[in-house]
Amino acid sequence: MDLEGARCLVTGCSSGIGRATALALSHAGARVWASARKRESIAALETQGMQLVELDLTDAGGVSRAVSLVGRLDVLVNNAGYGLEGAIEEVGDEELFEQYNTNVFGPWRLCRAVLPGMRASGRGAIVNISSFGGEAPYPGIGAYRSSKFALEGFSWTLRLEVAHFGIRVLDVQPGLTESEFGKHMKRAKAMAPDNAYAPMHESAARAYLRMSPHALPPEAVADAIVAELRKDTGPLRLRVGEDAHRMVAAVRAGDEAYERYLVSELGFDWHRLEAVSSR
Ligand SMILES: NC(=O)c1ccc[n+]([C@@H]2O[C@H](COP(=O)([O-])OP(=O)(O)OC[C@H]3O[C@@H](n4cnc5c(N)ncnc54)[C@H](OP(=O)(O)O)[C@@H]3O)[C@@H](O)[C@H]2O)c1
Repeated sequence: MDLEGARCLVTGCSSGIGRATALALSHAGARVWASARKRESIAALETQGMQLVELDLTDAGGVSRAVSLVGRLDVLVNNAGYGLEGAIEEVGDEELFEQYNTNVFGPWRLCRAVLPGMRASGRGAIVNISSFGGEAPYPGIGAYRSSKFALEGFSWTLRLEVAHFGIRVLDVQPGLTESEFGKHMKRAKAMAPDNAYAPMHESAARAYLRMSPHALPPEAVADAIVAELRKDTGPLRLRVGEDAHRMVAAVRAGDEAYERYLVSELGFDWHRLEAVSSR
């Protein structure tokens, strides 16, 4: 796609990958509408020539109003999202709903809102920011990772449904990236330092350092997205970062091989803690 003058909406531009992507698209000549929940968090982007949109993805009415305000779009970047820490048993219904409402239902709502315009113009690109975690489960962050698994299924399905309208769907799988993600990460209320899952969380946190020893600058992800969008066609998934490539390769070696990889290569030793797990 020729990005010069292309009309792009990017969600979650207050920091990290969203902000870097909005800037990279703008530098590529696109007309960018940058969104965040609080206008003041993106005010600086207005001085870079972008239009600002206040948008909470969990507000269905707000999503429709924002898309009508922007009008026809060539590119939607569904970037906004956050992580929730907690073992499956520790995550409550409301916490789980909020996680999916932002990471899955939000992008879904936005797609529903922009697709009629893209179909009418016979062109467009939808970029969903997933994670390599959309293919690789990891203990202690099942709500987050499963939301990315859901996003992957939705992206792949959508790609098959809209390709013949001239619309491309791109699923981006960044590795660990410098951003405010860690600061914005939520913890399930049921997590406690003395409960049955505490040793599992400790083991998972130690192994995490070996899974993703280095973080990418967000500009690396943004530049990869812009380069991919400039092509007219391409594969569903765009993986960015050594850890993303390595972890997806480990998963694709098979379920048992992946579980062995977690234990032998990353040092996740929870399975050896039977005495503790029976507490
Ligand atoms: N950083 C990583 O290592 C990494 C790796 C793989 C994938 N990802 C994915 O990359 C995406 C961007 O994350 P990031 O790392 O750049 O984190 P970040 O710096 O925390 O940025 C997340 C953005 O999402 C927005 N957001 C959160 N909830 C929202 C809601 N309900 N409505 C609208 N906006 C909302 C935040 O806006 P507010 O200012 O309104 O809070 C913020 O702008 C996420 O989907 C994340 O899952 C990140």
